[in-house]
Amino acid sequence: MSQVCLDQVTKSFGSVAVIPPLDLVIADKEFVVLVGPSGCGKTTTLRMIAGLEQATSGEIRIGERDVTTLRPGLRNCSMVFQNYALYPHMTVAENIGYGMKVRGTPKEDINAAVANAARILNLGAYLNRKPSALSGGQRQRVAIGRAIVRQPDVFLFDEPLSNLDAKLRIEMRTEIKLLHRRLQTTIVYVTHDQVEAMTMADRVVVMNQGRIEQAADPITLYESPKNLFVAAFIGAPSMNFVEGRLEADGGGGGVVFRADGDVPITVPARMVKHLSAGIGQAVVLGIRPEHTMTADPAFPTIRVHVADIEPLGPHTLAIGKAGASAFTAQIHAASRVRPEDTIQIPIDPEKMHFFLKSTGEALRLDC
Ligand SMILES: Nc1ncnc2c1ncn2[C@@H]1O[C@H](COP(=O)(O)OP(=O)(O)OP(=O)(O)O)[C@@H](O)[C@H]1O
Ligand SMILES: [Mg+2]
Repeated sequence: MSQVCLDQVTKSFGSVAVIPPLDLVIADKEFVVLVGPSGCGKTTTLRMIAGLEQATSGEIRIGERDVTTLRPGLRNCSMVFQNYALYPHMTVAENIGYGMKVRGTPKEDINAAVANAARILNLGAYLNRKPSALSGGQRQRVAIGRAIVRQPDVFLFDEPLSNLDAKLRIEMRTEIKLLHRRLQTTIVYVTHDQVEAMTMADRVVVMNQGRIEQAADPITLYESPKNLFVAAFIGAPSMNFVEGRLEADGGGGGVVFRADGDVPITVPARMVKHLSAGIGQAVVLGIRPEHTMTADPAFPTIRVHVADIEPLGPHTLAIGKAGASAFTAQIHAASRVRPEDTIQIPIDPEKMHFFLKSTGEALRLDC
């Protein structure tokens, strides 16, 4: 059992509080990704789990053990860093086996563990090479190999792919997922890249200024972001936000969204009951660019002044403004829309999100 539990954990550096009380439970064998902007406390949280940083208060448990004050070597976590930290004068095999050698493990056990890690990571052909003769992806695999041979209860990864080029990053993403499936070990993985988080994680923890904004599986985060921060952070290109008001539409119980200078958008009846807190209030309508392409004649439209066109192949992005708000729409690749055009973009009403402007909280969850 290697559940990781952070219970009211805080961290301050001197007088600066970086992590306010944080609660997080990572299940045994779960692959959890901590994601968030630079400086939000991802590395600090990971280092506290590893024991490289002492929590200022609160409790950290791994499995049944309270490890809050235990030194790193006794926590049975393996950490893989962004910069690999390989020994340049040692071969791949020596690098992978070094930790075991230092602990006095018999040579044949080291050889067997190194061979096993090399098999899992496809490093068999490189065991006698020095790190300088390896590619970035191969070096990162050696760093992972070094973590594997320790048979940790928990793997901790801190932006392990950020030194790799885009293509290799995608390959290594898949490899780390396969590794998790094969080893069935709890993984806590840190990245600031939301695509990496979404594609790898069982559960994504979105952090902001040391706090957890939302922790959920990738699809829930995408479909039901709890607030504007999560809505803006998850998804590429980012969700569009248009400011306006929600108003009752006559006496029939209908609700419309009204933005300055544009025609009102009728909210689907199914959604209305979730929006009562927002009626008569300033709200933000959120709509993802990918939900602007299907031109059902019944769909409401939003007026967009196009500033630029980005052809991507399968579809094209029209980038411009809806009123005062920046707006990116997916349009058909064959579209003849040009910069400086003003167009009516259809929006799928079922995919609309509403957030209270005053708090940034979503008005519509779980529907
Ligand atoms: N040793 C330290 N002393 C003082 N402040 C620190 C120390 N380590 C981190 N911090 C501060 O704590 C905050 C969180 O840092 P952390 O490294 O955890 O962020 P991060 O989310 O990993 O960011 P990045 O994506 O840039 O790696 C930052 O404001 C940082 O400046
Ligand atoms: Mg970091």
